[in-house]
Amino acid sequence: MAGNISAPGQARWSSKAAFVLAATGSAVGLGNLWRFPTEAGSNGGGAFVLLYILCVVLIAMPLLLAESLIGRHGQRSTIASAAYLARQSGASPAWSVLAVVGLIANTAILTFYCVVAGWVVYFIGTSAADVVSAVSAGTPMAGAYAGDSVETIQQLMPDLFANPVLLIGLQLAFVAVTVWIVARGVKGGIEAAATWLMPAFFFLLIGITVYAAITGDFAAALTYLFTPDFSRALQPGVLSSALGQAFFSLSLGGGAMIAYGAYASRDTNLGQTSGMIAFADTSVAIIAGLAIFPIVFSVGMEPNAGPTLMFQTLPAAFHSMPGGAIVGLLFFVLAFFAALTSSVSLLEISVGWVTEKFGASRVKASIGIGVLVFLVGLVSALSFNVLADQRPLAFVQGFETATWFDAIDGVTGRLLLPLSGLVTAIFIGWVADRKLVDAETGLKGGGLAAWRFLIRFLCPLAVTAILIIGLFPQLLG
Ligand code: PHE
Repeated sequence: MAGNISAPGQARWSSKAAFVLAATGSAVGLGNLWRFPTEAGSNGGGAFVLLYILCVVLIAMPLLLAESLIGRHGQRSTIASAAYLARQSGASPAWSVLAVVGLIANTAILTFYCVVAGWVVYFIGTSAADVVSAVSAGTPMAGAYAGDSVETIQQLMPDLFANPVLLIGLQLAFVAVTVWIVARGVKGGIEAAATWLMPAFFFLLIGITVYAAITGDFAAALTYLFTPDFSRALQPGVLSSALGQAFFSLSLGGGAMIAYGAYASRDTNLGQTSGMIAFADTSVAIIAGLAIFPIVFSVGMEPNAGPTLMFQTLPAAFHSMPGGAIVGLLFFVLAFFAALTSSVSLLEISVGWVTEKFGASRVKASIGIGVLVFLVGLVSALSFNVLADQRPLAFVQGFETATWFDAIDGVTGRLLLPLSGLVTAIFIGWVADRKLVDAETGLKGGGLAAWRFLIRFLCPLAVTAILIIGLFPQLLG
């Protein structure tokens, strides 16, 4: 069964709920837990959060519907689905370039995604060892790393970064698990994780947030996240980061939603499901922010600590929490599955295309692309040690200080995903056959009119403006 999962018109999610859960599984991942707090902290908090929410509602949500309808209509790989809809609309199949850019972007994202997911694997290891020692000491309900100080706990990340071999081993392990699942076929491989583990993760996260709110500096976190400093809202970097985060977090621009839409059944109302997926994803990001920032302020960290933020704050919270050792382990295990349901969707795009185009088996395609992803990902793993001083894009404004890791993350998130989204909006709003498109949306009346307006006018204009501002920041002075 797994072998022909990407054959046109064959594989289906087993229910409408399974499609929503799988798409939400793709959306919810390290983008919410790790990237959202990092970006919010690096871009000053409130202004970023406000722009991010605006980008989700006005730009990303309409595009989510556009992508999933391309997929459901096409029932093929992302590129072939886009070309199919173009041909049916009497337009050039060259419009499928939107999915070509997306395929490149998603594969590039996967290279560093597996590195960060490797950090999660590391914390599963340390938390498991911690639980074992707590249990053998007869104190199973101890806080995490009970014998250590908060400083020692925060030192775990820098110590890990100083060990390139371990970092690469963890990265490799995560690539291997992703490859294994995709090789088995996405539907069989991830439905179970998406159906059971994602909801479990959601409730655990809420519990942790409540704890952080009670014991951390919740008031400071609320002020930080929800009081926009409007002078920052107009900084070019903040604007393009917010748009990039909206795309990244909702798995947009790369074609993941085209690929998953292709497995959705005819009676799924895509307009409705797009709203549900966007709502769930954004809620998880905000809740993760509300778990992390109270601790940032109560332990006196800087909000702009960068990519280590989540891995230095949450272990500190688990440290002071009764039962924190066990909660910490549970958290990292579930975060691992959240990352996995996303990485699988990242890999699926290129595997779906290679199997369809070259007739390769899923197993061969997954392994081949997995090896490539691992090799390219090495520069990201080494950006924290051996290659820490390299600035590959030093000549580009806004990327002067970016390491390889930052560069791949920044170029994909701030440039390629929005670019592909822009072409998608123009294609669906202006080029594709209107009757076909409208019928796929499941929307009627005012909802349909509003979506049409957003996808035809607001999305293309706003994304173009933000891309231009991002590329030429001097325009804003
Ligand atoms: N949305 C995923 C996350 O937030 C990452 C992702 C990006 C997945 C693009 C697929 C496509 O972790």
